[in-house]
Amino acid sequence: MIEFKNVDFGYSDRLILCDISFKVAKNESVAIMGPSGSGKSTILRLLLGLECPHRGTITIDGMNICQMKEREKREIRKTMGMVFQNGALFDSLTVGENVGYYLIEHSDLEYAEISARVHEMIGFVGLNADEIIDKLPDELSGGMQRRVAIARALLSTNPKVMMYDEPTTGLDPESTKNILQLMQKLKKEREVSSLMVTHQIADAVSIADKFIVISGGEIAYDGKLDGLIRSKDERVVTFLTPFIESLAEVNREQFTSD
Ligand SMILES: Nc1ncnc2c1ncn2[C@@H]1O[C@H](COP(=O)(O)OP(=O)(O)OP(=O)(O)O)[C@@H](O)[C@H]1O
Ligand SMILES: [Mg+2]
Repeated sequence: MIEFKNVDFGYSDRLILCDISFKVAKNESVAIMGPSGSGKSTILRLLLGLECPHRGTITIDGMNICQMKEREKREIRKTMGMVFQNGALFDSLTVGENVGYYLIEHSDLEYAEISARVHEMIGFVGLNADEIIDKLPDELSGGMQRRVAIARALLSTNPKVMMYDEPTTGLDPESTKNILQLMQKLKKEREVSSLMVTHQIADAVSIADKFIVISGGEIAYDGKLDGLIRSKDERVVTFLTPFIESLAEVNREQFTSD
């Protein structure tokens, strides 16, 4: 479905990603992890064709996104849903206008039809449409905003690929659980391939079939969970240690409180 092959990319003359190769199969979920600034969001930007690699190729369904004309890029983006790092809703538009944005701007559908689809989609992401449709994003909690952003991504496109950039960062445990359940539901019901950038290893474990660790612009790990935990690669160990320590800490606390 998606393939990065020997991709180099940088801004001006600073190389950010170096010889990146990986594949994502149909209906597979991949977690991309790594230190801040390692180039995770950049990978999603490349996949959307917002940037092109200096070397190597990125293909979606066998088509090289950087060789496409703008019109073809727009077509393929219709099959890709992106949930940005900060949710990125339009502040001055209501929830309903945000979710329906793409249909309002780019389709010939009647208002009533758009309104019905917006209602349905807000329900799909587990929110009460009647309650929130006329509210501004500021009036919602962070977790609700994130779900509205997912609803917008789903209604803009009929996605074969979903990209989530840190979908649960800054959310409380309950909202985190809701977002993860929604991502799982999408995977099951819509058969989408997904790429999730995350710092939360627990989230990655609950969603992903495969784990990629980026470090220093290179792929330090690409594979299943058992291999990740057993990896002796220094970059992987450095990245995982704080999580393992905090997991151990939680276990110790459980023991001492028993
Ligand atoms: N538009 C840009 N122009 C120049 N440099 C950029 C631009 N966008 C990102 N960078 C740089 O590219 C590097 C990778 O950025 P990226 O946003 O992909 O990191 P990230 O892994 O997503 O980090 P974080 O976990 O903090 O979100 C960073 O050093 C960043 O400063
Ligand atoms: Mg990022």
